[in-house]
Amino acid sequence: MGTTPNTTAPDAPEHEVSPPERAVHGAEWDRIHGGYFANPAMAAPLTTLICAAAKRNPPQVIVDLGGGTGFLLHELARRGLAESARLVNLDASAEQLGQGKDPRVKRIKTSLTTLRRAQFAKQDEAVLFIMRSVLHHFGRDGLLPILKRLRHVMQPGERFIHQTTCFEDAAAAQCLNKLYALMGTGKWFPMRTALCMALMETGWQVEATAPASPLPLNSRDLARCYNLAPAKLSQIQKTLGAECGECSPVFVRAARGFTAYLPFTIFTCVAV
Ligand SMILES: C[S@@+](CC[C@H](N)C(=O)[O-])C[C@H]1O[C@@H](n2cnc3c(N)ncnc32)[C@H](O)[C@@H]1O
Repeated sequence: MGTTPNTTAPDAPEHEVSPPERAVHGAEWDRIHGGYFANPAMAAPLTTLICAAAKRNPPQVIVDLGGGTGFLLHELARRGLAESARLVNLDASAEQLGQGKDPRVKRIKTSLTTLRRAQFAKQDEAVLFIMRSVLHHFGRDGLLPILKRLRHVMQPGERFIHQTTCFEDAAAAQCLNKLYALMGTGKWFPMRTALCMALMETGWQVEATAPASPLPLNSRDLARCYNLAPAKLSQIQKTLGAECGECSPVFVRAARGFTAYLPFTIFTCVAV
């Protein structure tokens, strides 16, 4: 296996988890968005693929990038992977990491933008990267730099399995990107083809893609996550109702508020 020096790639631009979002980190995280992020059935398409990949190419270290409370790694430990690999959760939020209770999962507070391999593995240890619902945090301008940084700390042949929101339908992408812009977040969701190209451009070959359950986001939870006053929320609802139309599959009006649906795709990538 060749090595990639850890000194030449510039850090991705600094990125912090937004303070309002921290209100739902930690103890509340398991319950928000209908409990999606702590639901084994919702995670199953991803954890099943990770287990199969780990069987084919056994890693010595499995690193969950932006692993939050450590739920995915806990699920992998439950399926026996802690017996053959070290499990490491890297996240920028102390509130999220503080919620992790599984002693088989090592927790490290760090930003992925400045990631170094020495933080989680030796050069010659086999590493598997996993990630769920994190890439959109880096925004449109941050996507290529973060993918480049992740590739830079990996060795050729190592894998990166991630579940990421991206769109096949341009109108749906426009609608949900508008929602996130109106809520004042720097988050951004790419089209699926654009994400595949970004991965290839940064040294990742996409071996396979698979679907995962969409994430339902009701307007009450979004107001809590992004600290939105009722007047702001109804203004957002009016704007999106007019722009996205009544029949958008990703923006559905309810008696009170609305529900947005984030589609997910699972990408199995290999460092080339
Ligand atoms: C939507 S949550 C997903 C959590 C976890 N991956 C899961 O699926 O349960 C996004 C996570 O990314 C983390 N995060 C955001 N930006 C980060 C960064 N620059 N470095 C490390 N973690 C980051 C957040 O703290 C948060 O825990």
